[in-house]
Amino acid sequence: MSAMPAGRRNAFLLGGALAVGLGGVLVLTQCTGTSDVRDEADPELVAAAQSYRTYCGLCHGDEGEGYAADDANALRNQQFLASVDDAFLRAAIVRGHPGTSMAAYGERYGGPLTDAEVNALIRLLRSWQTVPNAEMPAPGPGVALRAIPTWEAQCASCHGDRGQGATALSLNNPVFLETATPAQIRYAIAKGRDGTPMPAFEGTIADERIDDLVALIQSWSRVTDDPGDAPEAMVPVIPEQLVLNPDGRAPRFSPLREGRYVPTAEVAQAVEDGRRIVFLDARAPSDYVRYHLPGAIISPYYDVQTIIERLPRDGTWIVAYCGCPHAASGRVMDALREAGFANTAVLDEGVIHWKDEGHPVVTGVNPGTLADAE
Ligand code: HEC
Ligand code: HEC
Repeated sequence: MSAMPAGRRNAFLLGGALAVGLGGVLVLTQCTGTSDVRDEADPELVAAAQSYRTYCGLCHGDEGEGYAADDANALRNQQFLASVDDAFLRAAIVRGHPGTSMAAYGERYGGPLTDAEVNALIRLLRSWQTVPNAEMPAPGPGVALRAIPTWEAQCASCHGDRGQGATALSLNNPVFLETATPAQIRYAIAKGRDGTPMPAFEGTIADERIDDLVALIQSWSRVTDDPGDAPEAMVPVIPEQLVLNPDGRAPRFSPLREGRYVPTAEVAQAVEDGRRIVFLDARAPSDYVRYHLPGAIISPYYDVQTIIERLPRDGTWIVAYCGCPHAASGRVMDALREAGFANTAVLDEGVIHWKDEGHPVVTGVNPGTLADAE
């Protein structure tokens, strides 16, 4: 499918440099989300800045500074921009990083963005690049097994023992591994990412050991599932009845942590006991279709109003959740509270933890009930 391991390297040489000249054209007015343009207006970039704020800023920061939500890297980081090509960015945005809170935003994968909108976003990211694309030597032949002690001592605390991500992003992600070149991975390890927790290991770890680390990371490569040509099978269904267990009693939650967060254990108990509740899945539809809580209604963080108009105003508990683990759900809950809903909460540990703990989830486009859960 979209993997082009060899040919796409050519695109590297010019893509970034061309876009650099466009930086500085945009002046964004704070907070309102509207964009204002000085000098030469570039409507595509203005629209991209708007869509960045709608879809991406929540986690990657409104200015691309990163870490507005856990593990969401700094998209404005110069070593990042100088070392990735457009195909790499496109794959991450269109297909997401399955198993992490980075959803698939491409229409074909059930996300909200057209190809043209994704291309415009890539242009926007490129407009942030102020340095030329990096010279990236290919690694020498490395031996994956030899890297394990170094990995465990120097990398696992942030990236997880198998590269699944911990305090930093994942490195075993199938989409990342399919699209990152060995030279790009080596460059990241050698040079680090200024202004983020990722250190430069050049000089601390011998060159040959860095080659081994690249081989180890690449050895995690797996094949991803492709939705094929049926994107309509990716559109979540919103039923008439939004309430799970409409005839059930209200759940009994302890006082919310910080007035916002309800623990997974209490929510799982409410599901098991058949309590009356509304679950709002605040992620992109592509994530919803992969799996969601039983009975959950799709309500992406960038489009809350649609569902607000249909929610019951009778004090039914409404619990929003996401994967990140609070940013998207927090935004949805804030909108509900602003609209006057009384009993609202955010699932504290998020849906990835919920699933990892073995609590029931439903896959596919229908909300389903506990009976449909796996
Ligand atoms: C809900 C939070 C969230 C939102 C919203 C989000 N991202 Fe991400 N994004 C992440 C996380 C977390 C990662 C790292 C995933 C991993 O661990 O592999 C990531 C990874 C990426 C990567 C790959 C970075 C790399 O070095 O591999 C790109 C590119 C990216 N996001 C761009 C975007 C764009 C553009 C948008 C808006 C269309 C967006 N993201 C919206 C959380 C988010
Ligand atoms: C203190 C935490 C920390 C440690 C230790 C660490 N990293 Fe990282 N690493 C990060 C963070 C955070 C990022 C993403 C930075 C950004 O661009 O926002 C990152 C990014 C990367 C990337 C680029 C991934 C991408 O998607 O672009 C690679 C490759 C990488 N690290 C490999 C390693 C290896 C190998 C080691 C051990 C030798 C290591 N890291 C140690 C925190 C860490």
